[in-house]
Amino acid sequence: MYAQMVKSEATNDDPEKLAEFQAKIDADIKIEPKDWMPQGYRKTLIRQIGQHAHSEIVGQLPEGNWITRAPTLERKAILLAKVQDEAGHGLYLYCAAETLGVSRDEITEMLLDGRMKYSSIFNYPTLNWADIGAVGWLVDGAAIMNQVPLQRTSYGPYSRAMIRICKEESFHQRQGYDAIRKMAEGTPEQKKMAQDALNRFWYPSLMMFGPSDKDSVHSAQSMAWKIKINTNDELRQKFVDQTVPQAEYLGLTVPDPDLKWNEERGHYDFSEPDWSEFFDVIQGNGPCNTDRLAARNKAWDDGQWVRDGLLAHAKKKRAGQVAAE
Ligand SMILES: [Fe+2]
Ligand SMILES: [Fe+2]
Repeated sequence: MYAQMVKSEATNDDPEKLAEFQAKIDADIKIEPKDWMPQGYRKTLIRQIGQHAHSEIVGQLPEGNWITRAPTLERKAILLAKVQDEAGHGLYLYCAAETLGVSRDEITEMLLDGRMKYSSIFNYPTLNWADIGAVGWLVDGAAIMNQVPLQRTSYGPYSRAMIRICKEESFHQRQGYDAIRKMAEGTPEQKKMAQDALNRFWYPSLMMFGPSDKDSVHSAQSMAWKIKINTNDELRQKFVDQTVPQAEYLGLTVPDPDLKWNEERGHYDFSEPDWSEFFDVIQGNGPCNTDRLAARNKAWDDGQWVRDGLLAHAKKKRAGQVAAE
């Protein structure tokens, strides 16, 4: 199905239908699964929602790693709930992608063999408990920045999934900020750990918004289709403006010597991340790419018997051999 769709993209969409479609988008009318849509719109959405779903699922790995080592029962319960939320986000998003005519199995296989990507941030390791605070504060903080505008995205199922997800994301950001605050207000060693986590996660978090607008391949068309609402640079600036005062409140230093409030612009000036690192991580050379994909592949293989069992049960049910629930 997916290969078929990509192939048929080469055929030109009917200009009249295209104009009608764009008029609907411009009038803020949501596009629903059964509505006509250009092949490029469908393909871009499958890629974007699929990558988003994969990021939620792969994103469970660095934090899941710390559930058994959380410092208190309360922190453990909070982290457990947060990581479970991420699984739920992945599921809503796989369902949203399925409404575009691609199956969950197909896009999962594309993640597992490297044809589809997930957010580069999850290829960085979480080395200690302070990193868990930094992930919630910065990574979920950046995710919210990206996701709040997507509640208004033009594709109905994606927009509705985002509304639900955003409610949970704000809890994720707050629990992370609270965890790192505790460390920043703790012993000198704990404060040092909090600072070290900020040092390591700052630039990878800035990279989460994607390359600069001038280098971003998909931006202009996606914005016209309202699949994307703000540019990468706008969102990155917003994130910096929100996060710097939070770091100051914690008594931590953002690891950027050029960071400065710009009175004239009404924004912070800051240094760009090292984009060669970003592209290198995307290419599979980040510190944890191999581990992350190996973990997902193992989970997929280990779960084969569950999928087989469910399919066998569904088949029997259809044949009337087991009672309907
Ligand atoms: Fe999430
Ligand atoms: Fe989250």
